[in-house]
Amino acid sequence: MRVVIVGAGYVGLTTGACLAQLGHAVTCIDIDKTRIDSLRRGSVPIYEPGLSELVERGVEAGRLHFTDQLGVPAARAEIVMLAVGTPSLANGAIDLSHVENAALQAAAAVGREAAIVIKSTVVPGTALKLRSLLSSATGRSVSVASNPEFLREGSAISDFCSPDRIVVGADDSNARNLLEQLYRPLVERGVALISTDTVSAELTKYAANAFLALKIGFINEIADLCAAVGGDVTTVAEGVGLDRRIGSSFLAPGPGFGGSCFPKDTRALATVGRAVDARQELVECLIAANDRRKRRVAEDILRRLGRHPEQTTVAILGSAFKANTDDVRESAALTVVPLLIERGVNVRMHDPQPPAEGPREFGGVVWCKTPYAAARGAELIVILTEWDAYRRLNLRRLASQCDRRTILDYRNVLAPDEAAAAGFDYISTGRAPVTVRKAAWAQASRGGLVAASPG
Ligand code: UGA
Repeated sequence: MRVVIVGAGYVGLTTGACLAQLGHAVTCIDIDKTRIDSLRRGSVPIYEPGLSELVERGVEAGRLHFTDQLGVPAARAEIVMLAVGTPSLANGAIDLSHVENAALQAAAAVGREAAIVIKSTVVPGTALKLRSLLSSATGRSVSVASNPEFLREGSAISDFCSPDRIVVGADDSNARNLLEQLYRPLVERGVALISTDTVSAELTKYAANAFLALKIGFINEIADLCAAVGGDVTTVAEGVGLDRRIGSSFLAPGPGFGGSCFPKDTRALATVGRAVDARQELVECLIAANDRRKRRVAEDILRRLGRHPEQTTVAILGSAFKANTDDVRESAALTVVPLLIERGVNVRMHDPQPPAEGPREFGGVVWCKTPYAAARGAELIVILTEWDAYRRLNLRRLASQCDRRTILDYRNVLAPDEAAAAGFDYISTGRAPVTVRKAAWAQASRGGLVAASPG
């Protein structure tokens, strides 16, 4: 099939390269001419494992093209997919103007049989609204469908090629047939395809992200409880996750979830719920708890630095919102670092994939090429991202660099006994140290389990 993808960002580019791999003829369009020029030269401006190779293969096979002009490819396309940004607005709602503008341009160019498909994450009702907008702009009926993506940064290609499901939302048979045809190669391999209306498809995306985020928020609180009463969140999560009704993924505690999706999507869902008088109270609590959690990381660090944090040195390991990406959007580091800098702390930072352009929030940090360099002279080492490289740290070498041997491991990447053997005072997340366990047991044996503070 002939497919045009508007927006050559992370979602658009991955989707385009994967559709080309399935055998479709794909043109990716972006108004950013520099991005298009660089893609044409074979350089992929995003760090996503396997994407460069897939783009190269698609281009070589003649099935993947890049341009900044929508008109000609859209006129020939059977499907135009919109994969443009939907940034958060100050009130938590999302800005749909990029989607609307791209849709208006596409609708002016496409043939009568083509479908305009929304790939961007949009609030329920957007496809219906767009359909009426496009119909009045063009004076004819336009097929608008919803086909949400479930791609995780860092594993986007396997998420596309072996998805748990494909969701197709269409309010007319033309769009439904085109999308079912597009995904036939995957369905023939046994992938489930859910065919529904556009509102349900749009809601499925939000509900999936909100539910996953709730799982994380829940295990984060259980981790705090473990630390307080002397438990180990790793085994609690394992014991809980083996219940097939719950499932073991997304039960790793951390410094608070981030990225370009969960924070934005939960805010948008809560905003829609309030607007239509169907409050999403669990999600509203989750948003507040997650924001608080990130701030509490900074407060915990400052408390451990004592009454005069100014002129102390802290090594932050991990600027990305999770491992295997250079994306720092809404990462824990983005909240933590400015709060430390504001209090005069010297922040030495390392990430295996530092952001190409350090955002302004990281102004004032010293970027280091290795975790060992970051630890130089540090009183605290704080792990915020679960990179494999941090699991393999040479702890004795790390210990030799710092001033005070304390590690705050918010991702539980290190083994407590190995950290202790290297001489570290090691504080993990929800894995209470033996001293806390002993205190909790002693209290329990004196009558009643009373919370002891972690660490
Ligand atoms: C998320 C969803 O997982 C994708 O299915 C969805 O398509 C995507 O959003 C989107 O809406 O486009 P992504 O934002 O790439 O994908 O990242 P995740 O792997 O879901 O992680 C999100 C955050 O949760 C990260 O900060 C991560 O560190 C945190 N997390 C994840 C935990 O703290 N604990 C976990 O057990 C899992």
